[in-house]
Amino acid sequence: MLNFESMRKIILSSVFFVLMALSCANVTKHSKPTTQSVNPNPDGDSEMSLLMREMLDDALRMKKAVEAGQKPKLLRSFIELETAEATRESKVDNDEFRAFTDHYLDLLQRFERSSVAESSSIYTGMIQTCMNCHAAVCPGPMVRIKQLYLAN
Ligand code: HEC
Repeated sequence: MLNFESMRKIILSSVFFVLMALSCANVTKHSKPTTQSVNPNPDGDSEMSLLMREMLDDALRMKKAVEAGQKPKLLRSFIELETAEATRESKVDNDEFRAFTDHYLDLLQRFERSSVAESSSIYTGMIQTCMNCHAAVCPGPMVRIKQLYLAN
């Protein structure tokens, strides 16, 4: 017979494992999924995690400028997407990941060449690509990525 206490333990541990699976980052290295966008002590994080946090910050910077009617400069190409090591190699060593990477890098280049008028739709395409890659290989951060869509 399951009493209340053991039911509670089973439910809590299943919730924990679902969260771990969804977060996809840091599964092997940390006992808890991280919720910080910037880790002050990043030694334990994969190259891809660190790169993604920079991409998140940079996209936020771009969002603010685009919403203010400006076209922000591209500060870097994020070409390391093609080579950075991930927490789990299977997440990045597949054709889907490579296709989304190519598309994302291409959009960044198009953003750089775009007029102010075109830049907001290209920006939206970039965020859509973040979402699409994440839906395919790493759904955990999608909640945060959604916040990068333009307000109107
Ligand atoms: C080509 C696929 C792909 C694209 C495009 C992509 N991501 Fe990621 N992202 C990943 C993968 C894979 C991981 C897991 C990295 C790891 O755990 O090593 C990840 C992890 C993350 C994380 C968690 C980092 C951490 O550990 O704290 C955030 C946040 C994130 N991505 C945001 C973004 C944002 C914002 C964009 C677009 C500006 C984006 N991603 C575009 C594949 C992608």
